Amino acid sequence: MGEVMENNRMQWYQDARFGMFIHWGVYAVPARGEWVMSDEQISVSGYQKYVRSFHPEKFDADALAQLAKEAGMKYGVMTAKHHDGYCMFDSQLTDYTSVKYTGHDFIREYTDAFRKAGLKTGLYYSLLDWHHPDYPHYGDRHHPMRDHEEYKNRPYDFERYLEYMHRQIRELCTNYGKIDILWTDFSYDDMRSDTWHGEELVRMIRSLQPDIILNNRLEVSGEGFGSLLSVHPNITSGDFVSPEQIVPPEGIRNEAGEPVMWESCVTMNNHWGYCKDDHYFKPADMIIHKLTECVSKGGNLLLNVGPDEQGLLPDEETEILKQIGRWMKVNHESIHGCGPSGIGKPEYGRITRKGDHIYYHVYEGQFGGIPLPGIRRDDIASVRLLGKGNVRISDSWITSNYPELVFADLGDDPVLPDQTDTVIEVILKTCDH
Ligand code: GLC
Repeated sequence: MGEVMENNRMQWYQDARFGMFIHWGVYAVPARGEWVMSDEQISVSGYQKYVRSFHPEKFDADALAQLAKEAGMKYGVMTAKHHDGYCMFDSQLTDYTSVKYTGHDFIREYTDAFRKAGLKTGLYYSLLDWHHPDYPHYGDRHHPMRDHEEYKNRPYDFERYLEYMHRQIRELCTNYGKIDILWTDFSYDDMRSDTWHGEELVRMIRSLQPDIILNNRLEVSGEGFGSLLSVHPNITSGDFVSPEQIVPPEGIRNEAGEPVMWESCVTMNNHWGYCKDDHYFKPADMIIHKLTECVSKGGNLLLNVGPDEQGLLPDEETEILKQIGRWMKVNHESIHGCGPSGIGKPEYGRITRKGDHIYYHVYEGQFGGIPLPGIRRDDIASVRLLGKGNVRISDSWITSNYPELVFADLGDDPVLPDQTDTVIEVILKTCDH
C-alpha cells in the first residue's frame, strides 16, 4: 500500500495527519512577520521597544486548543524560542523570557491546554539566536548585524552559545512533561549537525524524552532532505522530512525507494508570525484539498496560525479553521489513520485509504455516476456517502459500456452534496470471508 512502515513511536503521528503550528512571540508587536529583526536589520537594543511592549492580555490557550481540536487537528507545535531569541518559556539561563517580561510562561499554558484537550504537544526551538552575544553576527547569512562592520572583529565564543542552546533544550525536555515533537529550526551553510553538536544533542533529547519525534532540521531546512533519505541515516537525521510551503509532488521516498515520513508546514497567509497587512489567506476548501493530498501521498499537514500581539488569532484564521472543522466533522474518517490507497489519482479528486476502507474524495461532479477505480464489484461490502448514508452502485445502461469499472450513483441531483469535497467510502469485504 505504500505506507511508511513505522514502529509504535511514530504511529500516533502518522495517524494524526493534521496539526497546528503556532508562531507567536515579540514579533507580533511590529506585526511584519517573525523575520522582521533580520529583514530590517534591527539590533538587540532596537528590538527592545517591542520586547517591552509585548504584554498579551488575551491569549487563551484553552480556546486555541479547542479550535485546533474542532478543526480535526491532533497535535500542536508552538514556538518556544524563535530566531529573535526571545523565550516564551521559563528559562533559568536568561532573563530574555516572557516569564520575566510578562509574568506568563506561555509554553506552560500551551502544553497544559493542549494536553487537557487530548492533543499531542510539540515544541519549536530555533537553533539560530539573534539575541545571544555568542551567536555569529557579522558575515552570518541571516543575522540582523550581518553587514555591520562594528561586529567584524567582535570576540565571541560559539561554544558558549552551544552550551546555552543545549541546556535550554534540556529545560524544555525536562520541565514541561511529555513532549511529543521537537521541531528544531534550522540548518544552513556550515551551521548544521556537527556544528550544533547534533549527535550529543539528539542523545540527550532521546534520553529525556524516549518517545519524542524529531524533524530533520538539525541537518537541513525546508531545503534539502538530510540523511533520513539514505539507507543508513545518521543519528541527527530526525524522524520526518519537513517540506515548507509545498506539498511534495510525489510524496517522499528514501534511496532504497521506501516511503519516508514527512510533514508539510504551511502558512494560512504568507507569513508565519503575525503580519497585519497580509490578507492573502488560503481559502478553507483549498486547505481541505491539500490536506487530502498530503494524506493520499503519505504525509502530514502542519497548518500555521500567527496570534497577534494580544494573543488573538486574526479573524480570517479562526474562520478558516471553523470551516475546515465543519468538513472534518463529517469526513474525519477519510483523514485520520488514513494513507495512500495504491490506486491512481482519479480525474475528479483524490483517494485515501485505511485498510479495507477506501475513501474517494470527489471535488468535481460527474455526468452519469462517479467512477470508483481500483476495485471490483464483487469485493465491495458497502458504499456510503460520509455523513449521509448508503449509496447505490450504478446499474444504468449509461455506465454499462465500462463493465470493469464500478460507478456510484448519487441520485437525481447533479450537484455534489459537498461541493468542496464529497467523500464516498467503500468498505471492501475482508479477505478471510
Ligand atoms: C523557516 C523560517 C521560520 C519558520 C519556519 C517554519 O525556516 O526561518 O521563520 O519558523 O521556517 O517552517
